[in-house]
Amino acid sequence: MSDEPLLQVEGVSKRFKVRGRTLHAVERVSFELRAGQTLGLVGESGSGKSTLGRMVLRLLETNEGRVVFQGQDLAKLSAKEMRVQRRDMQIIFQNPLASLSSRMTVADAIEDAMIIQKIGGSATERRKSVDEVLERVGLPLSAGQAYPFELSGGQQQRVGIARALALRPKLVVCDEPISALDVSVQIQIIQLLQDLQRELNMAYIFISHNLGVVQFLSDTVMVLYLGEVVEQAEAQKLFEAPKHPYTRALINSILKVPETSADKRPLVALPGEMPSPFSPPSGCPYHPRCALATDQCKSEKPLLRQVSADHLAACHYAN
Ligand SMILES: Nc1ncnc2c1ncn2[C@@H]1O[C@H](COP(=O)(O)OP(=O)(O)O)[C@@H](O)[C@H]1O
Ligand SMILES: [Mg+2]
Repeated sequence: MSDEPLLQVEGVSKRFKVRGRTLHAVERVSFELRAGQTLGLVGESGSGKSTLGRMVLRLLETNEGRVVFQGQDLAKLSAKEMRVQRRDMQIIFQNPLASLSSRMTVADAIEDAMIIQKIGGSATERRKSVDEVLERVGLPLSAGQAYPFELSGGQQQRVGIARALALRPKLVVCDEPISALDVSVQIQIIQLLQDLQRELNMAYIFISHNLGVVQFLSDTVMVLYLGEVVEQAEAQKLFEAPKHPYTRALINSILKVPETSADKRPLVALPGEMPSPFSPPSGCPYHPRCALATDQCKSEKPLLRQVSADHLAACHYAN
C-alpha cells in the first residue's frame, strides 16, 4: 500500500481585495490528510475555515502554495483532468437546500450529479445506484420522488450526503454540516457520517464550531485564528492539553454537562472580539484578547512551531 497522503496542502494563502483593501483570509496553511482520516477545522466565524475548504477542492484558486491530491498538483491540471479528480472530492454544506435545485426531484438531482461526472453506467444501473444511496443514508425510497423543499432539514442534509456519496468520493469537505439542524438530528447525521467513513474509507475535512463534535470525529485538529493556524495536533492531545491560549479559551467557552461535581469548571465566554481582518494586530494576532500577553507578544509574531511530538502551536509561551 502506498504511504503517500491522499491530500497534501502546502503553505496555501488566500487574499481578497475588497474596495481597494486587501484581506488575508487564509495565511500559509499546511497539513496532510490520509485516506479514511478526519481533520477537524475550528475557529470563530470569519477565521478562514470555508475559504480553506474551498481552496482544497479548487473551488477557489490559491494565491500562494499548492494543493496536492492523489499525487497531483491541482493547479497544474487541465479542465478535463480536474474533472476526473473532482469526482473524488466532494463538499457537504451547512444549508443543503441552497445547493439543490428546486426544480429537480431528489432522485433526479442525485442522478444528475452522476451523469455530470460520467459514472453509474446505463440509466437503469444509475437508477439502481440512486435507490441504494438513498437507502444507505437512511431515506425512504419515496424521498427520491420528493422535491428537496418538501423534506425536513435533517432529510435535506441526508440528500446532500447522498449526492456526495453517489460519486464515491475519497475526500469530503463537510462545511458546518450540522449547524442548521436540531440537536437530536445533529447526532443522527454525525453517526451517519462516521458510519459511511468507516465503510468507504473516505477522508473528511470537518468544519464546525461545535468542538464536542470535532473532538468526537477528528483524528487531528487545526485551530484557525484570523486565517492562520495557531494550533495543530492529534485531536486527543489538543483537547486534553491545549497549548495555545486561544484554543483553551475556545474549549472553556463550550457548555459541557459535568459528570461529577468535581468536574465542574466555570464556563468562560471568549474574551473580546475578533479584530478586523483588514487591520490585524501587530505581533501575535491573538494578543489583544489574551490574558497572558506580554510586550513580546505585542511586537513579535510567534511562529507555528513544534511544542511536543506532533503538536504545533504559535505562541511564545506554549511551553
Ligand atoms: N468572496 C469573498 N470576498 C471577500 N472576502 C471574503 C470572501 N470570502 C470570504 N471572505 C472573508 O474572508 C474571511 C474568512 O472567511 P470564511 O472563510 O468564510 O471564514 P469562516 O468559514 O471561518 O467563517 C472573512 O473575513 C470573510 O469576510
Ligand atoms: Mg464558513
